[in-house]
Amino acid sequence: MLRRVPPSLRRGLLSSASTHYGGAQILNSSHSPSKSLLPQWRRRASVASTSAPPPPRPPSPPRGPSRSGGGGPTVSSLNPAEVAKFAAIAETWWDASGPFKPLHLMNPTRLSFIRSTLCRHFRRDPYSSKPLEGLKVIDVGCGGGILSEPLARMGATVTAIDAVEKNIKIASIHAASDPTTASIEYCCTTAEALVKEKRLFDAVISLEVIEHVANPLEFCESLSALTVPNGATVVSTINRSMRAYATAIVAAEYILRWLPRGTHEWSKLVTPEELSLMLQKASISVEEMAGFVYNPLSGEWSLSEDTGVNYIAFGIKKNETPSTDSIKARLS
Ligand SMILES: C[S@@+](CC[C@H](N)C(=O)[O-])C[C@H]1O[C@@H](n2cnc3c(N)ncnc32)[C@H](O)[C@@H]1O
Repeated sequence: MLRRVPPSLRRGLLSSASTHYGGAQILNSSHSPSKSLLPQWRRRASVASTSAPPPPRPPSPPRGPSRSGGGGPTVSSLNPAEVAKFAAIAETWWDASGPFKPLHLMNPTRLSFIRSTLCRHFRRDPYSSKPLEGLKVIDVGCGGGILSEPLARMGATVTAIDAVEKNIKIASIHAASDPTTASIEYCCTTAEALVKEKRLFDAVISLEVIEHVANPLEFCESLSALTVPNGATVVSTINRSMRAYATAIVAAEYILRWLPRGTHEWSKLVTPEELSLMLQKASISVEEMAGFVYNPLSGEWSLSEDTGVNYIAFGIKKNETPSTDSIKARLS
């Protein structure tokens, strides 16, 4: 079910050819790339695509707070409105029938993708009891720790960060009750702050966060700056497609009421092509991508080639000489 991203696609992301990918088309562009992008991404990306027309009157993207304009990954990724949404429901993280029910249901499938891609990349045995032993892993935007805990149980040395203090308190209390997870280093901070501290990890994982940050491209740059050369980066999110609008927003928030209304803003969602492009610009080459599909009869999620709604990407940090900008950012 996992799909390798073919070299042609990787080239296509930056070239002038057009390529089919995940049912959507990577457009190239003879037209001005900046016009194809959402306003908050225009600063640096050079090509982009969208896979669907916008739904009626999507809400305008909220503005992020501080912008240094310095060009490095030190700009704040915090979007206060988004952070407030999660602070309001922090107590419900470990209620498997509460607002985070979809994440609880998705967790085994997300972990299966992470286990298989990390084991392949780091040459580990996926069937061992602690396949991630010895790997330093960070969970960026960890919420209540529902992904951090199983990563620790797989043997990883886990650092988990979130912008919401309440989330970190709840995650710490929950993890402390089990010796296999008590070692998780929880911290209320952002990826950019850890970049300034020059922290580095073998694997950087950020699931369902990029659609809530102030500037997705700069967020990708921060994830990359936290990843060791040849390390792994895993990002999951929701596609900006009409199907996602119908299912992840209208059905999940308004009909089934799985999530509070307004949890996701359609205009802030990211297509697989945009994510690949942003990661590529941040020196991470996307090697595998998979979709998550929900079976309403069994109530289970599974991996699929269909990246039309929920999807996850695995990339490798390029082993390249750092740019002057990134050196300056690390030294500042
Ligand atoms: C949908 S939840 C995902 C939680 C967790 N990654 C998971 O999938 O189980 C998004 C989380 O990202 C956090 N968040 C949002 N913006 C953030 C930022 N700029 N830096 C760190 N965390 C952020 C929120 O507080 C929230 O806990």
